[in-house]
Amino acid sequence: MYIGVDYYPEHWSKERWELDALLMHSAGFNVVRMAEFSWVFMEPEEGKFQFDWLDEVLDLLAKHEIQAILGTPTAVMPAWMAKKYPDSLAVDKYGNRLVWGVRKNNCFSSMSYNLLSERIIKTMAEHFSKISNVIGWQIDNEFGGPICYCEICHKNFQEWLKNKYQSIENLNKSLGTHFWGHKFNYWNEIPIPDDMNTHNPGLCLDWKRFCSWMNVKFQHNQVKILRELCPKHFITHNFMGLYPDINYYDLSEDLDHVSWDNYPVWKDNPFNEKQEIFYGASLSADVMRGLKQKNFWIMEQTAGPGGWGSFGRNTLPGEIKKISYQQLAHGADGIIWFRWRTCTAGREQYWHGLLGHDGKPLRRYKEAAETSREFHMIENEIKDTAIKTQAAIIYDYDSIWATQIQPSFDGNNYVENIHRYYNALLRQGINVDIIKQDEDFSKYKIIIASSLYILKKSTADKITTYVKNGGIFLTDFRSGVKNETNICYDITLPGLLTDVLGIEIEEYSAIPLNTEYPIKNVDGNEYHAIKYMDWITVKNAEVLANYQVQYLNNFAALTKNNFGKGRAYYAGTIIKEENFYDELIENILKDSGISSVIKPPLGVEISIRQDSSKILIFLINHTINKKEVKVPSGAEILINLERIKDTIILEPFGVEVIKIKKVL
Ligand code: GAL
Repeated sequence: MYIGVDYYPEHWSKERWELDALLMHSAGFNVVRMAEFSWVFMEPEEGKFQFDWLDEVLDLLAKHEIQAILGTPTAVMPAWMAKKYPDSLAVDKYGNRLVWGVRKNNCFSSMSYNLLSERIIKTMAEHFSKISNVIGWQIDNEFGGPICYCEICHKNFQEWLKNKYQSIENLNKSLGTHFWGHKFNYWNEIPIPDDMNTHNPGLCLDWKRFCSWMNVKFQHNQVKILRELCPKHFITHNFMGLYPDINYYDLSEDLDHVSWDNYPVWKDNPFNEKQEIFYGASLSADVMRGLKQKNFWIMEQTAGPGGWGSFGRNTLPGEIKKISYQQLAHGADGIIWFRWRTCTAGREQYWHGLLGHDGKPLRRYKEAAETSREFHMIENEIKDTAIKTQAAIIYDYDSIWATQIQPSFDGNNYVENIHRYYNALLRQGINVDIIKQDEDFSKYKIIIASSLYILKKSTADKITTYVKNGGIFLTDFRSGVKNETNICYDITLPGLLTDVLGIEIEEYSAIPLNTEYPIKNVDGNEYHAIKYMDWITVKNAEVLANYQVQYLNNFAALTKNNFGKGRAYYAGTIIKEENFYDELIENILKDSGISSVIKPPLGVEISIRQDSSKILIFLINHTINKKEVKVPSGAEILINLERIKDTIILEPFGVEVIKIKKVL
């Protein structure tokens, strides 16, 4: 198992390097990531390359049995480049070139930027392919932006559209440019839609796709070079979890595995009573795992307080470890902390690493070292284990973007919508796969598609077949509203899903701010609908909850339809109370025959990795209180070996891994 830190040797004097390597080694670290912002140190002047400093660091690290992942340094172009080739810099929407500085300020269409990027990567690849402790590459750093509005990007967008639609007539028809007289005669009339809330929604969606594709293409060119020159090295990129602006399925395609940067500690109150699991970090991890349906790495992770100008809270004792176990539990095969030592200079002086400015190996270092010791202790058990689950949630970038462009109602947030079901599943102790529309549905007993705003005809057909064959499907408001060019289907909602859901939505309405509509379910429990409601009438479906409001009490809020051998549920609103979702998920789990191995107490997360012979259950206490968890008898305790009991006491932020052998 790989455990280590993001290391910036160029920030410190040479004399320190040996001590750094020694301290890393004694913490059990065996990998570092380096050089992703070091272009100017490797090519101090155009065409003059200098790798000796990095060779020296790599050599020292090798002596201490530490391997390295190198970043391709294209996230920060050298100052000489911006000066000599100003076209390398992106242009903002008002036509101004960005001021060089900060990072990620390049134009992806710029010939100079592309050529110089290719050359540094080629030169690095040729040089470092021969160095034995280099094991892999991280492409660039956290792709995302900038959006460039220069003339070349504009032309490239028009070309991209031409390629996609072939004829201008087809583009006009597909995007619905008859509205407001937006019909185009020639490709060069098409503007960059610079305001996502007012331009043609189809054109806006294509612009989002184009910008995403520019990143994918840029990465692809780098991967091509590295594959050829460094065939033994793995290639990854550090993704940003739920970052919405790049289609991460596409970005992951060329890579060996996905890595991501996990920063779950910000300004939250760790002493609050709510006892919340770090849902965001687990959903992000599952989204990351879902990109390639494969385990991932953490390339950066919270060590201490983070922030550029002012910083958030520090990690409390136990948190560094707990955060790492959460990722391990969701499929991480490598963990790297950001960063080794807090830098004394630059914008990130206050983004704290394991070591402080003083470079002393104190509490955070010791906790990371203990985490590393434990991970190495169980690495043979973890090796080749994966998460296997029969519950999946669809995560769809087209729907995310279309929801950004036209949310339908105030406060409609795609990720929050997913979280309601995801969190409820986690509270039941059930792992979730996050999947794309094109995934094979037959592997799952439950599929949830929240706010699947853009619904492909092929997906609607797949859903219908899936339910017919016995699957349990749950969807909700604003699903199936639009086609792939962001145009509303001209059929009564739920459109292509009408048969499978057995309902009809002739009308719908936003619910005014600060207004709640009571609903009652079949068990007589009362909840409150907020923000939006579909006016659902049932055709074949059963009503599971309906409105208790004058004029609206004929409409259902939640329905269930028996269809073929399966069931399809529809929730036409957002419910304020969390336990509505707990109840719904509990019923759906029962309906599908999925049960959890352990039902966790509040604030404790359960996640399971398994192989053919065993299951490993990770128990993670996210609270500052002790928690008691009943575990199946006969379970083997892997971390705190003394507790061979049926009940495990988890200390505040405490973790445990238990092993149960499968009966073969
Ligand atoms: C990440 C980035 C790192 C560092 C860190 C803290 O997003 O990849 O380079 O900047 O945030 O700001």
